Amino acid sequence: MAPPRTLECPAMKDFLRKVPLLKGLPDRELDAVAAFAVSRKYRKNSTIFLENDSGDRACIVRSGLVKIQQVSPDGKAKTLDILDEGQCFGEMALICDNVRSASAIALRDTEVLFIPKEDFLKLVRGSAEIAFNIMRILSARLLAADRQIEDLVFKNLPGRIVSRLFELARKYGKEVEDGTEIDLEITHQEFAEMVGTNRESVSKLIGQFKKEGSLRAENRRFVLVDPEKLAAWG
Ligand code: CMP
Repeated sequence: MAPPRTLECPAMKDFLRKVPLLKGLPDRELDAVAAFAVSRKYRKNSTIFLENDSGDRACIVRSGLVKIQQVSPDGKAKTLDILDEGQCFGEMALICDNVRSASAIALRDTEVLFIPKEDFLKLVRGSAEIAFNIMRILSARLLAADRQIEDLVFKNLPGRIVSRLFELARKYGKEVEDGTEIDLEITHQEFAEMVGTNRESVSKLIGQFKKEGSLRAENRRFVLVDPEKLAAWG
């Protein structure tokens, strides 16, 4: 008889312990998740699922980066969020019994853990901790979406760009010698899709921030060197 999968995969359980969606779940239940989770690797830029697909599983980023994106009828892409290791996505279609509200694309070579719909819903119904974790995740998302709506209505492009830089710094920031580095490799094109503009406008403004000494941008990384000066653009 095959040994239980969790004994084979202590690394999997260590990983699951750090997943915010599963925070507070007892070891026994983590074993169950490790048993029914299925992992799959995706090459950079490949599609995990598309907006309007039917949703049959919840997803957790095991490694790499996932872009959550919507595309307008005229082909303009808007990145709603970028998710890194441990973050979950694809839960909304399962909870609301709806189609996918956005597409999920591997932004780098990425591994995703899938939890089948039935197992996921059983988990949510059986655990107040998980239900609370989901509320916390959805509340954070709503807050971020509210901020983006506010930016779109009240701010010009430089203000929106600065706002997005601050948001990424809150989520991915780490202190370095000369400021706060956004610990995420991101191209100007990818950043432009987060702001809802084109690459040229982003590159032009990033150039101005660099010139005034408020931002450092090298090797696809941003460092917020003078946040006060940057905030003055907003
Ligand atoms: P689902 O609708 O199943 O598929 C798309 C997923 O993208 C969705 O679940 C959420 O997990 C995620 N998602 C949708 N909207 C946002 C958003 N505004 N910010 C971050 N993630 C989102």
